[in-house]
Amino acid sequence: MRALVLDAEGRTADVQDIRLPVPASHEIFVRVEAISLNPIDSLYVAHPLASSGRTIGSDFSGTVAAVGSQVPSTEIVYGDRVAGFLQGACSVNDRPGAFAEYLVVPWDLVWRVPDSLTIEEAAGVSLVALTAAQGVWYRLGPDAPFAYVTNSVKQEHPHDRLDAQPDTINFLVYGASTSVGLYTAQLARLSARPSGRAIKLFGVASKARWSLLKAEPYNYDYLVDYRDSDWHEQIWALSAGEGMHYVYDAISEGDTVRRNSSTLAPNGRMAIVRSREGGAWIASNMSIEPIYGAVWEGLGEEVQYQGFTVQKSPAARNFAVQFYRWLSTAVGSELKPVSIRLMPGGLNRVVDDGLELLGAGIMEERRLTREEVWMRPVSAEKLVYRIQDSLNVSESTA
Ligand SMILES: NC(=O)c1ccc[n+]([C@@H]2O[C@H](COP(=O)([O-])OP(=O)(O)OC[C@H]3O[C@@H](n4cnc5c(N)ncnc54)[C@H](OP(=O)(O)O)[C@@H]3O)[C@@H](O)[C@H]2O)c1
Repeated sequence: MRALVLDAEGRTADVQDIRLPVPASHEIFVRVEAISLNPIDSLYVAHPLASSGRTIGSDFSGTVAAVGSQVPSTEIVYGDRVAGFLQGACSVNDRPGAFAEYLVVPWDLVWRVPDSLTIEEAAGVSLVALTAAQGVWYRLGPDAPFAYVTNSVKQEHPHDRLDAQPDTINFLVYGASTSVGLYTAQLARLSARPSGRAIKLFGVASKARWSLLKAEPYNYDYLVDYRDSDWHEQIWALSAGEGMHYVYDAISEGDTVRRNSSTLAPNGRMAIVRSREGGAWIASNMSIEPIYGAVWEGLGEEVQYQGFTVQKSPAARNFAVQFYRWLSTAVGSELKPVSIRLMPGGLNRVVDDGLELLGAGIMEERRLTREEVWMRPVSAEKLVYRIQDSLNVSESTA
C-alpha cells in the first residue's frame, strides 16, 4: 500500500510503498478514505522526533475492511464508517501514523460516523474534538454529557479541577477560531446543560471571524481581537472585575499563556495546548501553573518527546473511549463539525501544499506566498485530503 513516510534527515516525507498492517485481535483494519491535517503533523516533519521510515499523520476516516477475532460484533462490523487518529510521527515512540491507504487501530478508539456526515467531514473531527474535550471536561472539570471514570482522573490530577463550580461560569477561549477553539466553545456550552448552570462565553479571535462566532452553535457573549495589544485587559473589564473561572488557551505561544493567566478569577483554572518544556511560550510568576495535556494520552500509550515523557494514562484512555461513544451520536446533532477545505491531489500533495500551509511550528510563522485558491490562510477550518485523489493529481489540481 502507499503511505506518506517520514524522511527525518531531509525534514520531509515521501509517498512510498510499504507493507500492509495486520490487525491484532482487538484491532480493526481500516481502508482509509480521507485524512485531515493538524499543525502537529507539520511541526514534527519540520523538526522530527521520530526516525525515518515512520508513517506520518494523525486524523483519518474510512471503512472497516476486517476485524480482529476479539472485536465485539455488537460494537463494530465489516463495512462500518469510522474515524479516529493515530500518533503520526509526533513522538520518539515507534508507532505508525494514519496517512496511508490502510491502517489498524484498537476497535474502541474510533467513533462511528453517522449518515449525516460525509467521510471527508468526519476526517477533521477526531483529534481536535478530543483535544478540546480533554481540556474542558477531563482537565478543567465541568460536567460532561456522558459518564467516565472520574475517580482515577482526580487521583492523577489532584489539583487541576475546581472543587466547587460557580452558578454562572465565566469561560474564556483564547484562539476561538482555531479548530480546537471551535469545539471548546461548543463543549463549554454543553457543560451547562446537565448541571443547570449558566455559562458566559468570552472569546479572543480576529474580527473577521466574529460573525461566525456570535452565531449558533458558538453563541459567544463577548469577543475581543487578539491583534489588540490590551485584549487581556478588555476581557478583565468585560467580566466586571470577576475574572475567568476557566480559560482554554488554544494557541499557547509567545506571551499568550501569561496574558491569559492575568484574566483568571482567584480560584480559576487554565488549560493550554503546548507544553512549557516545548518552549513555544515562556512565562514566570503566574498565579497558577497552567494545565497541559497531550491528546495522544487518549490512545493510552506513553509518549516520549525529546527531554520529557507523558506517562501512559488508563484514565485518559477511558475518557477517550467514552467521548468517542458519545461522538458517534452527538456529532452532526449536538456538536457541529468544523468546516473542511477539500485539498486537491491526495497523499502526493500533503507535504507541498497542506504542511506548507500549516507552517513549521508557531502560528506567527505561517507565511504564504502561493496564489492557488486552496493555498489561502487556514482559518476556522480543517484541511482534508481524499486518499483516492492520490491517483489523479493532474486531474484534481486542474
Ligand atoms: N496538546 C495537544 O495535544 C494538541 C492537540 C491539537 C492541537 N494542539 C495545538 O493547538 C493549537 C491549535 O490547533 P488547531 O489545529 O486548532 O489550529 P488551527 O485551526 O490551524 O488554527 C488556525 C487559527 O488560529 C488563529 N490564530 C492564529 N494566531 C493567533 C493568535 N496569535 N491568537 C489567536 N488566534 C490565532 C487563526 O485565526 P485568524 O484566521 O482569525 O487569524 C486561525 O483561525 C496548535 O498550536 C496545535 O499544535 C495541541
